Amino acid sequence: MPTLLIVHHTPSPAMQEMLDAVRAGATDDAIEGVDVVTRPALVASAVDVLAADAFLLGTPANIGYMSGALKHFFDTVYYPCLDATMGRPYAVYVHGNNDTTGAVRAVESIATGLRWKRLREPVTVIGTPDAKDREACWELGATVAASLMPQ
Ligand SMILES: Cc1cc2nc3c(=O)[nH]c(=O)nc-3n(C[C@H](O)[C@H](O)[C@H](O)COP(=O)(O)O)c2cc1C
Repeated sequence: MPTLLIVHHTPSPAMQEMLDAVRAGATDDAIEGVDVVTRPALVASAVDVLAADAFLLGTPANIGYMSGALKHFFDTVYYPCLDATMGRPYAVYVHGNNDTTGAVRAVESIATGLRWKRLREPVTVIGTPDAKDREACWELGATVAASLMPQ
């Protein structure tokens, strides 16, 4: 069965809300025939990445970059997965308290190095997520999972 791997660093209630919404979208009843695997960035492994068909990445913005946890994930999987995962789709969500630009750029830059394909625009949230933000996260999860549904 095709597998969506959600790799996230979730250090706060705001980010937990985003993760919950992303997962709810990805596991909606309308999505059939797709496995959704969720891994904290500090424990996700190259084996998880090799076994996945698409990736959803979640991180806070930290000092104008992605979190150290998500960077650690990329450091861990980059070379072991470089050839095998070329062309696989990904999407990203980022939470921040003032500016998520650098974090988005950092994730997209490494994903480009891996030659992953950006499936859709990042979802970025500043401050406390509201209903619209949760909806955007839900839709992100649903869209990426739906892209893997067997025809
Ligand atoms: C060390 C540190 C650096 C941060 N740097 C940024 C940043 O560059 N841009 C930003 O928008 N938020 C920044 N933040 C805020 C975090 O992104 C935010 O705390 C995180 O997303 C969790 O959200 P919360 O604080 O609302 O619970 C930073 C937080 C910390 C602790």
